Amino acid sequence: MRKTVYWIEGDGVGPEIWRAARPVIDAALRLESGLTLDWTELPAGEKALAETGSPLPEETLRALSQADVAMKGPLGTPVGAGIRSLNVALRQALDLYACIRPIRYFRGVESPVRHPERVDMVVFRENTEDVYAGIEYAAGSPEARKLIAFLREELGAASLRGDEAAGVKPMSEYACARLVRRALLHALKHGLESLTLVHKGNIMKYTEGAFCRWGYELAAREFAGQTCTEGSPEPGKLMIRDRIADAMFQEVLLHPERHRVLAATNLNGDYLSDALAAQVGGLGLAPGVNMSDSLAFFEATHGTAPDIAGRDRANPGSLMLCGAMMLDHLGAPGAAGRIRAALEKSIAAGTVTEDLAAQVPGAKPTGCAAFGDIVGANL
Ligand code: NAI
Repeated sequence: MRKTVYWIEGDGVGPEIWRAARPVIDAALRLESGLTLDWTELPAGEKALAETGSPLPEETLRALSQADVAMKGPLGTPVGAGIRSLNVALRQALDLYACIRPIRYFRGVESPVRHPERVDMVVFRENTEDVYAGIEYAAGSPEARKLIAFLREELGAASLRGDEAAGVKPMSEYACARLVRRALLHALKHGLESLTLVHKGNIMKYTEGAFCRWGYELAAREFAGQTCTEGSPEPGKLMIRDRIADAMFQEVLLHPERHRVLAATNLNGDYLSDALAAQVGGLGLAPGVNMSDSLAFFEATHGTAPDIAGRDRANPGSLMLCGAMMLDHLGAPGAAGRIRAALEKSIAAGTVTEDLAAQVPGAKPTGCAAFGDIVGANL
């Protein structure tokens, strides 16, 4: 079987991490499955700007809008290109509404907690609303003054003084429900025992509180036979529960093993993904995927690392793990598992890129390309 995978090389360390990661992904597939990937490159970022005059050419967007699987390296935002962020532009143009980050521990890595191995979670974060709607106005600007005057005069928000900065936090049932549905389907597909809705509904009842309510309603409406709630547990069914965001931060430290899938609003999900990544060693190893209803767009979660770009010092692990996630998605879990196991074995063996060497006691630093070879050999 063959599958076309569109790929964007990315800026900065992009080329070198791809050179190290792609052979590992292809080799894992050769060892474990009948699937062959047809890698088709799409221009984006600085390279595309130089070649076509646009950092996000029309042909790239057109191909991605018809694709079902793609993978990208990090993209910087070219100065003066007239785009706030290429990642935001891609997310909006392709309606990539769910940001999904699996977080797990890699043996051998130093962690600030005593049992990092108890963390094994996937965070599903809403990607289009809440603070990502980007609706905010500077203090004293005509827009902020107008908005605040409206809130005071028309809606009775008497505590406002008039000179504040102001933002809007929109949240719709449509956006919340499609995010929670995706999280639920993941939990059911993998036979996981619970899904936790994370929100701040005790303070923001009509936005955060509604996220929680819409989540429960969706589970009751569309997954009635397969789910239960914490209040009435039923053996063999996926338990839906919710936690106030601040309590959740305590719980992931104290009892991470109780949570497997988190569904969160945009800002809470942002904080939680990074806090959990730090808890397992804070490595630049985390993979991620942004999904629409038609496209799974995998990406290394770190940036272009301009301080080390082109010097064979980058860690290709995040891109390798993106590859593993993609292979799971494409129905090749054996090959995906091999990549994770090979990476873990390589880290534990202690010859690693310098960012990892700083976190693995007794480790010896090596280059990006050599680390790729080590992981390849450990497949
Ligand atoms: P960054 O993630 O590029 O760098 C932060 C620190 O982490 C640096 O010290 C860097 O050397 C290190 N680092 C990052 N990736 C690494 C790797 N693979 N191996 C070893 N060390 C690594 O974040 P920064 O500096 O804030 O952003 C630089 C550029 O990247 C900006 O243009 C930003 O917009 C873009 N960016 C793109 C992202 C994406 O495409 N998903 C995500 C974050 C930033």
